[in-house]
Amino acid sequence: MPRFITLVVARVLADGPGIRRLTLRDPDGWKLPKIRPGAHLDLQVPGLGARAYSLCGDPAAGDCWEVAVKLEAASRGGSAWVHGLAEGAIVEAAMPRCTFPLEPAATRHVMIAGGIGVTPFLAMAPVLQRLGVDWVLHVLHRGPAPCPAALMPWIEAGRAICHETGAAPRPDLAALLGPYTEGLQAYCCGPALMLDAFAEATRHWPAGRARIEHFTPPPLPFDPSARPYTIRLASSGAEAELAAGDNLLAALRKLGAKVDASCEGGICGACEVRWLEGEPVHRDRVLSPERRRTHLMACVAQCASDRLLVDL
Ligand code: FES
Repeated sequence: MPRFITLVVARVLADGPGIRRLTLRDPDGWKLPKIRPGAHLDLQVPGLGARAYSLCGDPAAGDCWEVAVKLEAASRGGSAWVHGLAEGAIVEAAMPRCTFPLEPAATRHVMIAGGIGVTPFLAMAPVLQRLGVDWVLHVLHRGPAPCPAALMPWIEAGRAICHETGAAPRPDLAALLGPYTEGLQAYCCGPALMLDAFAEATRHWPAGRARIEHFTPPPLPFDPSARPYTIRLASSGAEAELAAGDNLLAALRKLGAKVDASCEGGICGACEVRWLEGEPVHRDRVLSPERRRTHLMACVAQCASDRLLVDL
């Protein structure tokens, strides 16, 4: 279950085209819990629920967290709410989660960002620099660069390279990445078409060497093999029958289980549930193969056996 935290908006800055950067602090000035680079924060948007935003400040800053949010015309309302926040506003958030971590064993990190997808890399950059490893950040953007104040030192240091795709042809991601070599770790965060191109460019790489952070859940394909099953809560023994394709998260909540959720599309990690018996069908983009042996993401998971027992 997530732990919630109350934060105050300590500072609001314009930070690139349509982007606001918020500095969040504890209202009483306490230190905030340590975050991992690549982590995101689920802000609780009144009337809309949780909305996930990458933390983009230096994780070494113990007294504040930062998010940079672009006002999206096609958003579900979260970015408009963030843009309406003024300094002094109080917000609620779940504790940060990291589903897009740095690979500690890597000796070279190549990061590719599309527009506001630069945010998780802004938190990774100072960490990689302190580690003294080799890294480069490619930022593809149309028009002015996102988060210029935070990017500029890395551009000047030769670590970040901006590619203005309105002025020059869109670079080939495979060329930016280069061939896979031992110790290389690649990351991509950006719009869906860029993520697809990145996945294609790294298709033959060893498993886990190319990581993707989604902004929005990709469409969930219809599963022709979905079947009915019984869900059972281990704590109370409460059961429900699910028809083929029924939403497991909704069924768990109907049984009285408290399960957090944010993206409701298998990408954020909010609805993770431990399973005990059965044969879950995992359709998320966030759990590792190891983690799937014990956990599932309730917003997208199905079940291939008659019964699924969960640790709730
Ligand atoms: S709510 Fe985001 S993974 Fe389920």
